[in-house]
Amino acid sequence: IPVECFDLVIFGGTGDLARRKILPGLFRRFLAGQMPENARVIGAARSEMEDADYRQMVREAVAEFGGTEKENGSQLDAFLERLHYVAIDATGDGGWDKLAGLMRDGVIRAFYFSVGPSLFGALAERLHQHGIADAASRIVVEKPFGHDLASAQELNATLAAHFDEHQIYRIDHYLGKETVQNLMAVRFGNVLFEPLWNSHYIDHIQITVAETVGVGGRGSYYDKSGAMRDMVQNHLMQLLCLIAMEPPSIYDADTVRDEKLKVIRALQPVEPHQIVRGQYDASSEGPSYREDAENPRSFTESFVAMKCHIANWRWAKVPFYLRTGKRMKARSSEIAVVFKDLGHTIFEGDTARHRNILSIRLQPNEGMDLQVTIKEPGPGGMRLVDVPLDMTFADALGADQEAPDAYERLIMDVIRGNQTLFMRGDEVEAAWAWTDPIIKGWEARNDVPKLYEVGSAGPDDALMLMHRDGRRWREIK
Ligand code: BG6
Repeated sequence: IPVECFDLVIFGGTGDLARRKILPGLFRRFLAGQMPENARVIGAARSEMEDADYRQMVREAVAEFGGTEKENGSQLDAFLERLHYVAIDATGDGGWDKLAGLMRDGVIRAFYFSVGPSLFGALAERLHQHGIADAASRIVVEKPFGHDLASAQELNATLAAHFDEHQIYRIDHYLGKETVQNLMAVRFGNVLFEPLWNSHYIDHIQITVAETVGVGGRGSYYDKSGAMRDMVQNHLMQLLCLIAMEPPSIYDADTVRDEKLKVIRALQPVEPHQIVRGQYDASSEGPSYREDAENPRSFTESFVAMKCHIANWRWAKVPFYLRTGKRMKARSSEIAVVFKDLGHTIFEGDTARHRNILSIRLQPNEGMDLQVTIKEPGPGGMRLVDVPLDMTFADALGADQEAPDAYERLIMDVIRGNQTLFMRGDEVEAAWAWTDPIIKGWEARNDVPKLYEVGSAGPDDALMLMHRDGRRWREIK
């Protein structure tokens, strides 16, 4: 179903994110018939170029990052026809009148700030000065949304000086992932899970986001950030919220976000012994973090594992174990809900510990499986065995149901005016308020991250974090 007609301006329109994600994503939505007849995309950046040059750049970006076999020359040509380019000086006057002249009345105006946060204020101010933005316009901003609470508050204040909260779309691309949204569908669309979703039945929850990529090529950003700011404060926090929140009374942007905010606010401070920082070290599978980041003395973490608690009735005494790292043995993201042991068994001689585990695989191979206990086949009496009831979404739904990429979905949500999958300002601030003391503690103690080999499952201390509690991490595979 096509969305309403729009003019989408991408500031940073020649940048990496625009070329890799935003523009190929828009093209895929175009192929899917979702871009209305007269919708337009206007790239804006510092360098001078003509529309024709910009179209050529986008043609190459789509070829490189498009990832779709459906594209064919004529459709790509038709898509490129909708693209325009304006050379703009974000902090001066150049180009703004031309941009104002291009914008049409009566269509949705959306502005994607695909630029560093230091330019947000200048862009917001000029959009108003030149009468380009109005009360119905939308702006889209990317992470990193601040690097601590104070800077996030400052950014929020800068944007709030020009735009209402309902106009601001803060992207966390994890919220655009199909399986992440499925978390809500599974929890709130089935009768099976919600009655068990609490401390009476759940022993603990594990969230793992393991990556095989390193930081090579983006060391200058990453080395100042680290896994805590780059992954935990945003992506893992969002996963935690969706898995732990109370059922919202309706599926509506503010109702959902109110519930997520309550989770973040209920998170207990994390003590130093409940958290492990790691940094990858060279192995036969590749160079060290320090080589990749080109900083031989770096103490930045590329891995974090932690245990946290949510102080409310539902989750009393249920630990949440979070883990994320780069250059690990496999790319695998999973949320595992580990249910409690049976209190009593009627099967004589069966001493094994049987547990139901609901595993939600975010990527790759999106799907869910539920570990259940059944009788081992054969005549050997009542011997029990645990098997997964496996549901891979691609198999169950068929290949033509292939999910749009996170960015595609989120951009279309901006045009639809649906903020459910975007972070609200107070959510971001609450997440920083929880993260800040952890990072400040490391800085104050000059914490040195534990080394782990490239291609491993992280430092041994992370395994100990679980072992101490008589639990084990799920295998990364
Ligand atoms: C980004 C981080 O936000 O998410 C990257 O900055 C990380 O460091 C990426 O690699 C992971 O996203 P995905 O979609 O590949 O899991």
